[in-house]
Amino acid sequence: MAELPFIPLAVPNITQAEGDNLQECIRTTYVSTVGAFVGELEEGVAKLSGTKHAVAMGAGTMALHMSLHALDIGRGDLVILPSFTFIASANSIAHAGARPWLFDIEADSWTLDAAKVRAGLDAKVERRGEDWFHVDTGERLAAIMPVYTLGTPADMDAINAIARDYGIPVIADAAAAIGVDYKGRPIGQCADLTCYSFNGNKTITSGGGGMVVGDDDALLTRIKHVSTTARVSTDYDHDEVGYNYRMTNLEAAVGCAQLERLPKFLSAKRRIRATYDEKLAGLPGVSPFPYPNDRQSTCWFSGIVVDEAIQPSASEICDALMNRRIQARTFWKPVHLQKPFADVPCEDQSVGEGVWGRIVTLPCSTQLTAGEQNRVIETLKEILRV
Ligand SMILES: Cc1ncc(COP(=O)(O)O)c(C=O)c1O
Repeated sequence: MAELPFIPLAVPNITQAEGDNLQECIRTTYVSTVGAFVGELEEGVAKLSGTKHAVAMGAGTMALHMSLHALDIGRGDLVILPSFTFIASANSIAHAGARPWLFDIEADSWTLDAAKVRAGLDAKVERRGEDWFHVDTGERLAAIMPVYTLGTPADMDAINAIARDYGIPVIADAAAAIGVDYKGRPIGQCADLTCYSFNGNKTITSGGGGMVVGDDDALLTRIKHVSTTARVSTDYDHDEVGYNYRMTNLEAAVGCAQLERLPKFLSAKRRIRATYDEKLAGLPGVSPFPYPNDRQSTCWFSGIVVDEAIQPSASEICDALMNRRIQARTFWKPVHLQKPFADVPCEDQSVGEGVWGRIVTLPCSTQLTAGEQNRVIETLKEILRV
C-alpha cells in the first residue's frame, strides 16, 4: 500500500518571490547586515505596527534581549512574565542579567492575567525612592513582558494601567502576533516596545529573524546602536560593549517577500482555525483553543484542548497522529517547570498548570489544503473513536 503523504505541523510558505529577492542579494553582493532589504522590511513592519521605528534582528530572542538591555534592565532586576510562554521569553530576561517574576494566564486568552499581577504587586512590592522592590528578594521591579500567545494580544489596557501605576515599561513579546490589532489600534501602539519573531514556524519568516518596533526615538536609536556592535564610526570605534545581533540582507530579502503575502497568510491561519473549531465542535472530551470576545488573534497555531479525564492523553494523541503521518505536538511547558528557572519568584499558576499538558497543536501551515485538513480531522475522530 502506498504510504500516506506527510502533513507537517507548520512549515514556511516559500515561492519564487522569495527566491527572486535572494537572487537580487547575490547579484548585488549585499548578503550581510547592510542592504536595501533590511531597511525595506523595517519600514514595512513599522508601518503595519503603527510605530515610528523598527530595528531588525537575527532572532526574536535578540529583539527581546536588546529591548531589555536598552532600558538598562539587568542584574538585580525582576521582569514580570507569564510562566506559560516559550522559554525564549524567559531566556531573554536572563541574557540581560535579570530574572523573570512569573505570573499566571487568563483562561480565555492564555495571556498574562493582569488581575493576578495587580494582586501580586499589591502584596509583594514596596516603594523605595523612585522604584518598587520585591519584599522577599529585594530585587527591583523593572518591566512587564506580556506575551501575545498564539497571536492574541494580552489585556493591554489593564497591563498598561499597572505599568503606569508602578512607573515601569512594557515590552511585549509579540513573537507570533504580526498583523493583529488590539481594540482597533495597531499592535505596536500598545507597549513601549513590541518584539516579533520571524522564525521558520511563524506566520511570516525570514529564515530566522526578529524585530523591535516602537515610537521612542532615543530608545530605538540605542537598540540599533547596541545591536550593531555599538559602532560609533567606520574607524573601528565603539563606545560600549555591543552585540552583533542585526538581521542580514539575505534574511530580510525573504522577509520582504513574505510581508507582502501576510494578508493571505493571516486569512489562511484564521480559516484553518475556524474549520477545526467548527468540525471538531461537540466532540466529547475536546475543546477548541480559547478566543477572547474582546480581542482579535492571528490564530498562529490551531488545535484542541483535551479533558483530563479522556483517554488517550494529549501526547498519546500526538503519537497516534504521527503514526498516521500527521505531525501534531504538545505545547509550551511553563517556565517555572523548566530547570533553569525553577527558583525564580513565581505566583499561583493554577490556570497555566491546568492547561499546558492538555494541548494538542494540529497542522496549520498556510498552504494546508482543505483535503489535508479534512484528513487531520477524520484521523483525529478515529483516534478519539467518535
Ligand atoms: C512567545 C515566543 N517568544 C519568543 C520567541 C523567540 O523567537 P526566536 O525563535 O525568533 O528567537 C518565540 C518563538 O520562537 C516565541 O514563540
